[in-house]
Amino acid sequence: MTFKKRILCIGAGYVGGPTMAVIADKSPDVRVELVDINAERIAAWNSDHLPIYEPGLDEVVKRNRGKNLFFTTDTDRGIAESDIIFVSVNTPTKTFGQGAGLAADLQYWEKTARQILRASTSDKIVVEKSTLPVRTAEAMDRILNSNGSGPHFEVLSNPEFLAEGTAIEDLLDPDRVLIGGMNTPKGQKALDDLEAVYASWVPRDRIIRTNVWSAELAKLVANAFLAQRVSSINAVSALCERTSADVGEVAHAIGLDSRIGPKFLKASVGFGGSCFRKDILNLVYICRQHGLAEVAAYWEAVVAMNDHQQDRFVARMISEMFNTVAGKRIAIFGFAFKADTGDTRESPAIRVCRHLLEERAEVCITDPKALDNAARDLGPDTPGVVHAQDPYKAAEGAHAIAVMTEWKDFQALDYQRIYDSMEKPAFVFDGRNILDHAKLHKIGFNVYPIGKAALTHV
Ligand SMILES: NC(=O)c1ccc[n+]([C@@H]2O[C@H](COP(=O)([O-])OP(=O)(O)OC[C@H]3O[C@@H](n4cnc5c(N)ncnc54)[C@H](O)[C@@H]3O)[C@@H](O)[C@H]2O)c1
Repeated sequence: MTFKKRILCIGAGYVGGPTMAVIADKSPDVRVELVDINAERIAAWNSDHLPIYEPGLDEVVKRNRGKNLFFTTDTDRGIAESDIIFVSVNTPTKTFGQGAGLAADLQYWEKTARQILRASTSDKIVVEKSTLPVRTAEAMDRILNSNGSGPHFEVLSNPEFLAEGTAIEDLLDPDRVLIGGMNTPKGQKALDDLEAVYASWVPRDRIIRTNVWSAELAKLVANAFLAQRVSSINAVSALCERTSADVGEVAHAIGLDSRIGPKFLKASVGFGGSCFRKDILNLVYICRQHGLAEVAAYWEAVVAMNDHQQDRFVARMISEMFNTVAGKRIAIFGFAFKADTGDTRESPAIRVCRHLLEERAEVCITDPKALDNAARDLGPDTPGVVHAQDPYKAAEGAHAIAVMTEWKDFQALDYQRIYDSMEKPAFVFDGRNILDHAKLHKIGFNVYPIGKAALTHV
């Protein structure tokens, strides 16, 4: 079959994989290929066990794989044969040198740009899909178009707004698709071409065109605003715990105000995921670079509040459990940073478990999808860490349960059975407010939700 267009995506991760699978599904006349330097990941994409868990992903991949959706490690050939190249490689926070701990580490990104330049023999549209600091596309443009008379590269920014756990849904029915390009005839033509890809299934009025830098900045700002709502309600949760207010009632009351809205107002042990922290710190770094110290401090406080919420959670556990957790088994219910994903990057469970281990507790982690990642995050064979796929086993002999992820599975458990198997007094620290607290209390648990009064038996 001859294809109308050939798309390549460099980086077959949580963003590249689902995004390209949906493009292939919606555009049978477009050939979509994903490449990755991680050969194991590519092998998994070609197997029955995809490398990431995402509801609906298996079906979309299996429906299109081998028809117009392909996974390979042959990046140079992929580049040479493509018309549009999405770059969806990871952009972690820099751990060394200037900007360490704040700025994005752009080495993978620049290497990718140079590889595109080396392997290209025809003009290309290069789409920045990774979240990158403002004006990275400009740097990319300079690297790519430094070759004088060679092929021309038009660089666009097309940040991804999908959320893990609902990635397929978000891709099929996005609030908006944002594409940024240069205000030149070639830039506008490239925007037309990319818009046409999305227009196969996204209504035109939801495809927004901006300049490149607005698109880059909008992604950082969107994540900063979302995280800021979580930190704001978590700050309020601390006050609720000291008073007789209930953070759920407060959130409901303010969320009905149409100017505020109800989403992202759920108090919890804190936000996680690969993006929020990294993107806010990036924003902080950019503000500092531009001499905006107060603006940087404002956004940095969002991250500080998130750390505080996790530390506060552990401090409460320790103080309520008679000021010591040493030698006590704590069942960790959930390790993924949110439900419906196996992703544990920046999960609050990591920080909470590390603190508990420092206090010499034994943590027994259960999670429907994230145990492999949990083992990696805490280090294999770490003393004090045990895993149990079965939550009943995890809770056996434990002094406390700490709910870290809002998996529905945890709501459906037989808590009488769990209570009977635990040490007494038995504690539940519900870091996601998902359990039936009154029922648990009636069974005999001492229950500590986030942002509302504890239900205890003392
Ligand atoms: N995960 C999310 O929910 C989400 C949402 C929106 C945006 N983003 C952004 O998208 C980008 C990718 O995120 P992700 O979660 O998919 O990351 P990921 O780590 O899951 O995937 C990135 C992939 O890129 C590969 N890679 C790195 N360098 C490469 C190279 N030179 N050639 C080929 N492959 C290479 C890695 O092996 C990895 O498989 C990041 O910038 C992130 O901030 C992520």
